[in-house]
Amino acid sequence: MSRKKIAAANWKMNLSYAEASTLLDQLLEVCPTNAINKIICAPFPYLHVCSEKTAGRIDFTVGAQDCSAHAKGAYTGETSAAMIASCGATHVIVGHSERRTYHRESGEHLLGKIHQAFSANLNVIFCIGEVLAQRKAGEHKDVVVNQLLEVLSGLGKEHLSKLILAYEPVWAIGTGETATPEQAQEMHAIIRNQMHAMFGDEGGQVAILYGGSCNAKNAKELFACSDVDGGLIGGASLIADDFATITTSF
Ligand code: PGA
Repeated sequence: MSRKKIAAANWKMNLSYAEASTLLDQLLEVCPTNAINKIICAPFPYLHVCSEKTAGRIDFTVGAQDCSAHAKGAYTGETSAAMIASCGATHVIVGHSERRTYHRESGEHLLGKIHQAFSANLNVIFCIGEVLAQRKAGEHKDVVVNQLLEVLSGLGKEHLSKLILAYEPVWAIGTGETATPEQAQEMHAIIRNQMHAMFGDEGGQVAILYGGSCNAKNAKELFACSDVDGGLIGGASLIADDFATITTSF
């Protein structure tokens, strides 16, 4: 089994409905059909239209940016994994640093979300990464290994085919400061080894994306790293030509 190559767009809380529609139309036009999996992680209200628009393209799929840790019920404002799937989305981001920080999501809570996602047959993009103080203190390797152990130890091997990891050093997200290819490769290799240690060969085959100010200029050198299988792209995914360039930077 060869590892998937992926360019995932994380639109975050940007774009009106009309702007999102236009951006997706542009993306479908400018991104060449190729073997790179393009996952558009859109705000909840746009999942359905994005799924409809991408239905004719085998290389495009749609994802949500979060899901509830509960299946259904009295959780006002929450969106369940099953609702996401019913809108035609196939992926969901879990554990993005912005959610870990602003919503204080714990490892246990994240595992609950992952279980819900798998129950709804969604693929999970699970994010890990250290903050600047942890990198400065030389703790970055332990931080990501512990994030994997804390959450993924609760999973069985049968789920690995629906799991994607994203290494996102928090100090690089939205800051314009990118990890160097050497820094990215070092961390991706550590993550891959840890996945291998936890799950064996299948663990080592899970795709690991780099995220954090990845853009049309630096994507090529990042994706050239042997353990980098693609990117989770925030800001640059809002510009059709830039995202298209990223999807052809493998
Ligand atoms: P950025 O965001 O590309 O804007 O740094 C990446 C992310 O948060 O997933």
